[in-house]
Order: sequence, then C-alpha cells, then structure tokens
Amino acid sequence: MKIFITGGAGFIGSALIRHIINNTSYEVLNYDALKYSGNLNSLSSIQDSKRYSFVKGDICEYQILKDTIFAFKPDGIIHLAAESHVDRSIDDPSPFIYTNILGTYNLLDISNKYIKLIDQTKDSKFTFQHVSTDEVYGDLHPLEPPCDENHFYAPSSPYSASKASSDHLVKSWNKTFNFPSIITNCSNNYGPFHFPEKLIPTIILNAIHGKNIPIYGDGQQVRDWIYVDDHAKGLLTVFEQGKHGQTYNIGASNEIRNIEIAHMICELLDEMNPITIASLESYKDLITFVTDRPGHDKRYAIDSSKIKTSLSWKPEESFESGLRKTVQWYLDNKSWWEPILKQDFALTRIGTGELQ
Ligand SMILES: NC(=O)c1ccc[n+]([C@@H]2O[C@H](COP(=O)([O-])OP(=O)(O)OC[C@H]3O[C@@H](n4cnc5c(N)ncnc54)[C@H](O)[C@@H]3O)[C@@H](O)[C@H]2O)c1
Repeated sequence: MKIFITGGAGFIGSALIRHIINNTSYEVLNYDALKYSGNLNSLSSIQDSKRYSFVKGDICEYQILKDTIFAFKPDGIIHLAAESHVDRSIDDPSPFIYTNILGTYNLLDISNKYIKLIDQTKDSKFTFQHVSTDEVYGDLHPLEPPCDENHFYAPSSPYSASKASSDHLVKSWNKTFNFPSIITNCSNNYGPFHFPEKLIPTIILNAIHGKNIPIYGDGQQVRDWIYVDDHAKGLLTVFEQGKHGQTYNIGASNEIRNIEIAHMICELLDEMNPITIASLESYKDLITFVTDRPGHDKRYAIDSSKIKTSLSWKPEESFESGLRKTVQWYLDNKSWWEPILKQDFALTRIGTGELQ
C-alpha cells in the first residue's frame, strides 16, 4: 500500500507518518511545503526507513503536485496540509484561502484525473481522505449536545471558514463525480511536536521561561481535547476501513476550559520542574488574562460515536495521562523547540497568544 500524505511535516501529519511507518508495512510519500510550522526534525525517528520519502512541494502549485502524485502512483491520499492557526487567519486570511481552499481543489482535480488511469475495481480501492476540524461546526451553547456528523456548518474564523469550504468541495466531488473521498473532523489535538504558538505548548514554554502565561478573555472557553497519537490511529483506521462518501468525527470527549488547562499544566510543572523564581510560589502566579480574540468561539464539543461503533476505534489516552506525557516531552526535548523559539516570528507569538 502506498499513501501520499500532504502536510506530513506538521504536528498531526508527522504523528500519522510515525504511526504508519512504525506499525504497518505501508510506503509513505510526505509532500510538504515546509511552511513555518513544518519541521522535518519531527520525523527524525523514521526518516531512514526505506518506506518513507519526502518531497518539498506546495499544494498550490498544480503541475508539481500532479507530477509527484502521478509518479508515486499512490493507493490513497491523506490530506493534512493546511494553514492551521486561527490567530494567523485573523491577522492575514489570504494564505488560508490559497492553501486550504485552492490547494484542496488542486488535490481533488488531480486525484480525479489520476483515478481514471488506475483500476478502481481491485481490492484496495483508491481513497482520498480529507483531514478537517470540529471548528467547522462553530460555537456551541453550554447546554447543547456535542456535534455529530450531521450538525450544520457555522464557521466563525477565516481558518474554520476555509476548512469548511474545503469540506464542501470534497463533499461535492463525491456527489458530482462519485469521487472516493472520506472526511474526518477532529477536535483540538495536543501532544509532542506541537508548534510552540499553540495553547498547550505556549503555556508550558512560557512557564519554564518564567514568562507570563497569556489566557484569552476570562479563560472560560471550552475545547474538546484529543492526544495526537489517538488522532493518528483514528486517521489510519478511517483510511483502512472507512466508507467512501462518509464523514467521521474523531474526538476523545475531554471538554475542558482553557483556564483549567493552564492550572493543570502549572500543577504538573510544580511537581516535575519546581519553579526557581524566588518571588513566586507556583507557575500559576504567571497566569495573565489578555484581551480576547475577536469572534472567539466559547465552546466546541464533538460526538465521535460513529467511528467508535462502526470502525471500533477508541482513544487510548486520558487527558491527565496525555497531558503529563506532553509536559514531560517538552521538558526533555529542548533541542526540538529551542531553534523554533530563536526565530523572531515564534518569539513574537510566544507571550501573546493562545490558539485553537
Ligand atoms: N491541530 C489541531 O488541533 C487540529 C484539529 C483538527 C484538525 N486539524 C487539521 O489537521 C491538519 C494538520 O494540522 P496540524 O495541527 O498538524 O497543522 P500544522 O500547522 O502543524 O501542519 C501543517 C503542515 O502543512 C504544511 N503546509 C502548509 N501549507 C502548505 C502548502 N501550501 N503546501 C504543502 N504543505 C503545506 C506545513 O508546512 C505543515 O507541515 C490541518 O488540515 C488542520 O486543519 C488540526
């Protein structure tokens, strides 16, 4: 089995490639433009595998993308490449429109041409899997049940609107062209190799640098968290067993307020790496509330019963165990995050923002 993966140098894509190379006999081509969040160091543990190859390429560049797909001859594509940071989409939506919408269109058009050349009657049929987010469902009232796959779309940010657009393109290709696609919508991921500008790494890294820990607004926003390796396993399960034309939510039912996450991380750090700033008793003393993000959704929550009952996937990590592993990973892997913090853009973000 040969899988063409876009965005494989990113947080979730690299977890997926590590999972596939370590647990299957499949061959993977990682196609990634190495934008600011792409990092080949996240793949160092599998980069020497004969079943792994990398091509630096942009999904917005049609001809190179087409040539690479046609030369590799994949049995399927898992599409993760995207601009993924809500705050950046508010600062400048244009890369989100190009990569998330136009780039997805390029992949659909090329894949549709490609499958006309291959035998779709053989046992392992071509699958195009589009990796999306629960943010397309928009803001949920505290008393509303978590969103299932039939929930209406109500994106709030340029990021989630661009992902919603790409989901609609994929659905329309399936309906109009009988295109063999599957969509997965996942909740907020956390875990090792997460780019430092996102909420959980920001809290950990600001804390260990003795900087203020910025929390948007009153910190009451609720997000539904999943450990990234559980998402990676869910993606492969859907790729192997999911039905074309279907959407699968992937989540772990961990609804937690942002301020609670900050407290949990500070308590873990107080235990694992006690604070050395004489004037402070706990890392919690660094928590600072900052002006809220415009259009900030209050609550996301996802119902993933469908993948659990129809494909027998379930998350393995509890939020407590996953968060402990994540904090330990950032304490142990300075060599991964330090070069990123040395770059100006990341330093600007650290200390000002919370993401997804
Ligand atoms: N992080 C989350 O919590 C979360 C949750 C649900 C869904 N998702 C979706 O999962 C996917 C991966 O998210 P992530 O958190 O790993 O993001 P990320 O920002 O860590 O990684 C994105 C990757 O895509 C690459 N990329 C960006 N633009 C590209 C282009 N034009 N051509 C080729 N490569 C390009 C980047 O270099 C990077 O390696 C995205 O589609 C995102 O919408 C993320």
